[in-house]
Amino acid sequence: IRVAVIFGGRSPEHEISCVTAGGVISAIDTDRYEIVPVGIARDGSWVLYSADPAQLAIVDGRLPEVDASGSEVSVPFDGGGDLLVDDGDGPRRLGGIDVALPLLHGPLGEDGTVQGLFEMMGIPYVGAGVFASAASMDKVFTKTLFTGHGIPTGSYVAVPDRAWRTERKRVLDDIAELDGTVFVKPARGGSSVGISKVGEAADPEAVTAAVEEARRHDTKVIVEAAVSGREVECGVLESPDGGAPDVSQPAEIHVADGYDFYDFEAKYLSSSSLTIPAALPAEVVAEIRREAARTFEALGCAGLARVDFFYADDGRVYVNEINTMPGFTPSSAFPQMWAEAGLDYPSLVDRMIRAALD
Ligand code: DAL
Ligand code: MG
Repeated sequence: IRVAVIFGGRSPEHEISCVTAGGVISAIDTDRYEIVPVGIARDGSWVLYSADPAQLAIVDGRLPEVDASGSEVSVPFDGGGDLLVDDGDGPRRLGGIDVALPLLHGPLGEDGTVQGLFEMMGIPYVGAGVFASAASMDKVFTKTLFTGHGIPTGSYVAVPDRAWRTERKRVLDDIAELDGTVFVKPARGGSSVGISKVGEAADPEAVTAAVEEARRHDTKVIVEAAVSGREVECGVLESPDGGAPDVSQPAEIHVADGYDFYDFEAKYLSSSSLTIPAALPAEVVAEIRREAARTFEALGCAGLARVDFFYADDGRVYVNEINTMPGFTPSSAFPQMWAEAGLDYPSLVDRMIRAALD
């Protein structure tokens, strides 16, 4: 079975996608699957790339990236799902692939766009479809769907581009009502890129600076009331037999000392750690697992997802967000949570690919 493993991409999570690919490629059962590694450079060009996990690892705090120079530049797919490669003498066929594994994080990869390409080409692909990917990438639409399904989530204010440009006073007043600490985020981002923590929602200068920072990444911004409590994640996999989704044991995140919140550096370049399974009361674990499955189904996900929670100091459980292509980096919770559940890394990848082929 030929698997196009696609990584890199045009989003700010380019490097993390490369690290994810290194993890997955190391784990893939090469007796069963033939890997066709496809890198997407930052400029959007698709290249046949090295599958050497050493080139896709974080080394001495340096993040890997897809270097397209000197590679064969490919026109990705023809209508029949064949990979086409053009190394200067016009396109030639590389042969069909059976399934695409888009290990892309963030916009133009995790947001339904590349999923739409595969739909058009009739190529099976791992993970959520077009709508679920788009809805899960956009934190404002995600919140709307959470509310519609009665999934508990924190308070927020959406800051679309026009509102920020033309109704700023009203927007700042709405944000002030969130009261206390807020997180200001690009609506469609990941890995905490562009996120700021602001100590006081009613501080218009600080909020404005944070919104402008988020707007460097996305014209649409979301401001979320901070939930004081513990941060917990939970993995979900589509059932192989059409039943309810399978849910892992939750993981608790312990942010390394010296970080104000679980930002990019704390996530990937620090000694932040996980407790798996999270040491929580049994009824809280049960509630988190139930809400993880409900969130997966409410968003219409397929294949896999990771649902992120707060277990608040007041004892309540809140869903923070859902990731349709969670990280598979050495510090990422998703593969570790499944390993704890008895599904080792190669079996996890096998199961994701099989779900796409079924
Ligand atoms: N967006 C990152 C990769 C994650 O959710 O793990
Ligand atoms: Mg996310």
